[in-house]
Amino acid sequence: MQNNVYQSIMDTLEDYTSKLSVVLPKIYGRKPLACINTYGCQQNVSDSEKIKGLLEKIGYDITDDDENADFVLFNTCAVREHAEDRVFGNIGRMKALKKQRQGMLVAVCGCMAQQERICERVRQSYPYVDILFGTRHIHKLPEYIYKRLTGSARIFDISEDFSEIIEGLPIRRDGKLKGWLPIMYGCDNFCTYCIVPHVRGRERSRKSCEIIKEAQSMVDAGFKEITLLGQNVNSYGKGLDEDINFAQLLRKINAIKGDFRIRFMTSHPKDCTLELLDAIATCEKVETHLHLPFQSGSDRVLKTMNRKYDSEGYLKLIKEAKERIPNVSFTSDIIVGFPGETYEDFKETLRVVKEVEFQALFTFIYSKRFGTPAASMPDPISREEKGKWFSELIKVQEEISKKKYTSYVGQTHRVLCDEIKENGKLSGKTLSAVEIEFEGEPSLLGQFVEVKVDRFTNILEGTKI
Ligand code: SAH
Ligand code: SF4
Ligand code: F3S
Repeated sequence: MQNNVYQSIMDTLEDYTSKLSVVLPKIYGRKPLACINTYGCQQNVSDSEKIKGLLEKIGYDITDDDENADFVLFNTCAVREHAEDRVFGNIGRMKALKKQRQGMLVAVCGCMAQQERICERVRQSYPYVDILFGTRHIHKLPEYIYKRLTGSARIFDISEDFSEIIEGLPIRRDGKLKGWLPIMYGCDNFCTYCIVPHVRGRERSRKSCEIIKEAQSMVDAGFKEITLLGQNVNSYGKGLDEDINFAQLLRKINAIKGDFRIRFMTSHPKDCTLELLDAIATCEKVETHLHLPFQSGSDRVLKTMNRKYDSEGYLKLIKEAKERIPNVSFTSDIIVGFPGETYEDFKETLRVVKEVEFQALFTFIYSKRFGTPAASMPDPISREEKGKWFSELIKVQEEISKKKYTSYVGQTHRVLCDEIKENGKLSGKTLSAVEIEFEGEPSLLGQFVEVKVDRFTNILEGTKI
């Protein structure tokens, strides 16, 4: 971006920050509280960390309790219908709260808000929503709040004129051990079922120097796990002035000194190169786990989905990964009941699931998304029938997961201890992203621990060595 455009955005932000430092105490007579409700994927969680950073900067304290908040924001997801229904239910709760609380603001942002029809629905039917803005306007939040608090009409801003990456916004991370690091935004793939490219805009990669700077600051702050985020991290680097790809970026982050781990999601099979597999195999900090969604095993369905690979290509990639990366594990996303999918097609999906032997699967029944090409494709199979296929898939995968977990018994793994469970046991994940529970002192939280796996019950259980 041109430096002067960037500078003017930063100046505007500073301007509203100082205006709000005068206005907020006058209105509330104390530090106001803000509550952020986040739905959807890690991208939204990461955006919410920026929103919280901005709100803190302009003078809010952050709370989890929306009943006592002066500013309640819903950062929404549009990926499936169910996600949208949940959000509307929760926005509806704000009506009564707002009546009781003078000066309270309600805002909606994120992928759902970015859609014209949702924007109109909120405008017409949810008069107590003060501010609605799209996925590319987070940096303007202080401006919206200032304007609304000083008498502006309700604000609706989902314009698409702005898609540059804004670096340098404050971030208030949710944890101190594991953190998100977006390396790119948007998506160019236009899978025919998917709303994401329509609400997140075109793919933009961050400059590698900005990513390295942020990764270094996370390591300096004591983070032990950094997860690189993008809708398709494998195409990182396209469109940048510098000559860099995802494999090279991984090597650069891996070279940062310190004991920490690097995870990443999501990988699109069509851009997964052998160079990347080799980088994963040789970078000791990089997880030996690939989340590699294949969506369907049927070549006909994959073609109508616009996924740009076939089942043979996918299986070949998995074979290469198994050969090159020691102790590699795989997870995947699958859609059941895509428009026009037959039981024969679905059996192809089962075939791929059985051949790959995924550690775990994220399975979804197809959900029609307004404005996507698949929404106008004939979809004759009933929901009930799709439900049966879905259950069949889950059952097949359960057996495979059990087999994969059991193969860990007897092995020793270095895990990052990241949780104390309700039963008092510690839990941590291997480099291959598999969870193991074990007994130990709570002081081990946040440390790397060697654990020998004793058994698999419904989870892997082990002993610290
Ligand atoms: N960018 C990632 C995934 C983003 S959405 C990728 O390409 O892998 C996460 C998952 O939601 C997708 O992988 C897909 O399996 C599922 N999904 C997306 N749109 C969907 C829809 N309309 N109905 C059902 N599942 C969907
Ligand atoms: Fe959606 Fe496909 Fe982009 Fe993933 S790659 S976000 S599934 S369009
Ligand atoms: Fe949902 Fe948007 Fe993520 S649609 S899955 S929050 S990119």
